[in-house]
Amino acid sequence: MAGKLTVVDVGAMKSRGEKITMLTAYDAGFAGLIESAGIDMLLVGDSLGMVVLGYDSTVPVTMDEMIHHAKAVRRGASRTLIVGDMPFMSYQVSRPEAVRNAGRFMKEAGCDAVKLEGGLEVCDTVSAIVKAGVPVMGHIGLTPQTAGQLGGYKVQGRELDSARNLLGMARGLQDAGAFALVLECIPASLAELISRELTIPTIGIGAGAGCDGQVLVTHDLLGMFEKFVPSFVKSYVNLAPRIKDAVLAYKHEVREGSYPDDSHSFKMSLPIEDILS
Ligand code: KIV
Repeated sequence: MAGKLTVVDVGAMKSRGEKITMLTAYDAGFAGLIESAGIDMLLVGDSLGMVVLGYDSTVPVTMDEMIHHAKAVRRGASRTLIVGDMPFMSYQVSRPEAVRNAGRFMKEAGCDAVKLEGGLEVCDTVSAIVKAGVPVMGHIGLTPQTAGQLGGYKVQGRELDSARNLLGMARGLQDAGAFALVLECIPASLAELISRELTIPTIGIGAGAGCDGQVLVTHDLLGMFEKFVPSFVKSYVNLAPRIKDAVLAYKHEVREGSYPDDSHSFKMSLPIEDILS
């Protein structure tokens, strides 16, 4: 596809049965690498808080932190559809505040859309943001910002009532104007049913192969975040030990004096003694 994918193109991919790929990015370097691999969408996730900023959860992440990182991602990936994740309390207090904060992702960071967590309680907010001209991606199932209310980081929708609730939320968000919906940590068969029932694409994370697309936290895919690895994550490479080995080798060579050697040093163009004469 020539040019940047739009939210309309993402919907068309579902209609054509083409799987949609999405990964998180938090800085220009990774964003550029991911873009060069042709991933369809980048999410500047509030997982930033845990994998980059060292918080224990996503709750402390602020709008200013998200904007700072979203700007960097845009600088690194000018040709990819970028979704900015609205952090906790940036859209709950009032609708005008939610619209203003969603607008910041577009105006200040150059994002193409925003994502926010929640079910029927956020539908009016989603609708207000969409009416203001900002495409919105919904996010239901395990919603990390309110994981405490859900009883922790647990699979959602295993029982009849909660499965029906999730289907109702999905329909509500679609009716509110969401262009796509993240389904996190729900049984594969339920995610497949929701995906079939909706006209907008579903993007799964821990929700099986029946979703219209998949998203992963890039640090998980690369094996770079060791504190907590959910069971649905597939690490395609295990970088954390390789990074530690490289750092240890550097430390060792600096201490023993073998780095930098001649091939990693610059040469003078005149005899060094001339400086003192
Ligand atoms: O913040 C994030 O990275 C996310 C994904 C897990 C969907 O919301």
